Amino acid sequence: MRAFRLTETGQDPALTDLPLPEPGPGEIRLRIAACALNFADLLMIQGRYQERPPLPLTLGMEVAGTVDALGPGVAGPAPGTRVAAFGSCGGLAEFGCWPADRCLPLPDGAGFREAAAFQIAYGTGHLALEHRARLQPGERLLVTGAAGGVGLAAVEIGRRMGARVIASARGADRLEIARQAGAHETIDSDTPDLKAALKALGGVDVTYDTVGGAGFDAALRASRPEGRLLAIGFAGGDVPQVPANLLLVKNLSVIGLYWGGYMTFAPQVLMRSLETLLGWIADGSLRPHISHELPLERAAEGLELLRSRQATGKVVILP
Ligand SMILES: NC(=O)c1ccc[n+]([C@@H]2O[C@H](COP(=O)([O-])OP(=O)(O)OC[C@H]3O[C@@H](n4cnc5c(N)ncnc54)[C@H](OP(=O)(O)O)[C@@H]3O)[C@@H](O)[C@H]2O)c1
Repeated sequence: MRAFRLTETGQDPALTDLPLPEPGPGEIRLRIAACALNFADLLMIQGRYQERPPLPLTLGMEVAGTVDALGPGVAGPAPGTRVAAFGSCGGLAEFGCWPADRCLPLPDGAGFREAAAFQIAYGTGHLALEHRARLQPGERLLVTGAAGGVGLAAVEIGRRMGARVIASARGADRLEIARQAGAHETIDSDTPDLKAALKALGGVDVTYDTVGGAGFDAALRASRPEGRLLAIGFAGGDVPQVPANLLLVKNLSVIGLYWGGYMTFAPQVLMRSLETLLGWIADGSLRPHISHELPLERAAEGLELLRSRQATGKVVILP
């Protein structure tokens, strides 16, 4: 089978021929139909991701496909079942193995592309906004990097939860995508005085920050009393530093959220959230935006679309 492999950090991954993988105890083998790309794949290539699986590895964190074989001790899902699955790697290939208890059977209404694309982005948005920040109807939610995979999902979920959504992204075209996903207001992230722009819109109750840097600082200073700031990612490269005195005087909270961490300390919270989201996708109330679909041999091009900030929503590879 063909797989998109990283041999050494800092080097370009490449398509390689590998033997068909055998599922181990507790695992299933999937014939992969779709694998969605993530900013974290870029960090993994650079050796800057928080998880460091041993090299060489097959890139690709979230997939959907058909169960092809069961490992020892696995009762199901049965071969032929359509499922979604995630992990830190293994998805950019024609076949791959995942723990059976990390596979979600797909309802009829969910296609492979959407099922691959929703897990990390929507899972992160749902746990962050509902479970961690307790976003309330009518609250003002700022989403930075709002045209990216994780940002656009948070716009959609925030809107569904009844928030007034302010989307920040770079350029009119990307802001229009955020508006179509449900943003009430938009701000170009290159606006010189972001704090003033946010205050002019009435301030912010909950910030969902995927970019870091100056945008986080502006949001902190434009936060309303009892505001919550979710540190989700640092796509811009700068990790924000938070002056604790501002938290004190304005009664603010900064909340960290690492979605993958739940798999270790509270997997039931994560799987329950994914099941809820899958139901929303199957009934059509969430519609993951996929800007590009590419075959496996163009996976490098897909990653370049993320690196160069040309993708909106998700990029999906179809092995
Ligand atoms: N905490 C968690 O559990 C969790 C889960 C998933 C992802 N994340 C993190 O969330 C962030 C976004 O991930 P994603 O998969 O949504 O990525 P993505 O689709 O590439 O979106 C990132 C967005 O950030 C903006 N951006 C600003 N500066 C950038 C730069 N220097 N390089 C690239 N993009 C830049 C871009 O929008 P504009 O061009 O419009 O500015 C882009 O749309 C990443 O830092 C990722 O590691 C965290």
